[in-house]
Amino acid sequence: MPDIRICTDAQDLATQFAAMLAESIAATIERTGRCTLALSGGNTPRRVHHLLASTYRDRIPWPGVHVFWGDERFVPADDPHSNYRMARETLLDHVPCPAGNIHPMPTGGIAPSEGALAYEQTLRRAFTGAWPRFDVLLLGLGVDGHTASLFPGSPALDERERWVVAATAPIDPRMRLTMTVPALTAAERIHVLVSGADKVEALGRVLDERADPRVYPAATLRAAGDRVRWWVDRAAAAGLTPPS
Ligand code: 6PG
Repeated sequence: MPDIRICTDAQDLATQFAAMLAESIAATIERTGRCTLALSGGNTPRRVHHLLASTYRDRIPWPGVHVFWGDERFVPADDPHSNYRMARETLLDHVPCPAGNIHPMPTGGIAPSEGALAYEQTLRRAFTGAWPRFDVLLLGLGVDGHTASLFPGSPALDERERWVVAATAPIDPRMRLTMTVPALTAAERIHVLVSGADKVEALGRVLDERADPRVYPAATLRAAGDRVRWWVDRAAAAGLTPPS
């Protein structure tokens, strides 16, 4: 059974999730000295970022937080579509996280394939194991079932050795960098934030254990078993059958 937390609405989802995340980051740093956090793009995380930068700003030991991204749109860092820019504006510019702890995917003056290789090297310096093991990985769900920048039918879904690859998207911006399935699913904790009525169908599909991940990419997260939690608002959860 997938682990699903149903929240009243988008604000309640952000409030509950930010509280859990702040506590989890602080506890991880207390235990291990650092917390590796991978952010996602999209709109749903914005409210969470705002809460981390306000309500929870002084409860998080920011010098121990190391920030990465699970995917990035291949646009300049100051482009309005950049996931890095979004995170900077909503979170990172407002908290005392050291600049050296912030690791955006490279998108400037480099080919996408080189950017993917360079970011994989960045991750390999940060993690010593066979795969990166983020303490916390945040993801979203697209209306077509995509997660990170793994879109339906993408060859990137079949990658089993690389940690990061260049991939194309059927929506703008078309060129992306994304962590691969084995890299994403190696995370210690994965949280998928899903909000809004337009996600009803995608959510039902990706949580169906018969779903083909090549058609509904987020279904691939089931490989991470009970390390995945779905944070869903009521609007998005409308099509789910309550457990009997
Ligand atoms: C991106 C993403 C992507 C996103 C989903 C959900 O860079 O676009 O990381 O996978 O998380 O599309 O986005 P929303 O939160 O806007 O629905």
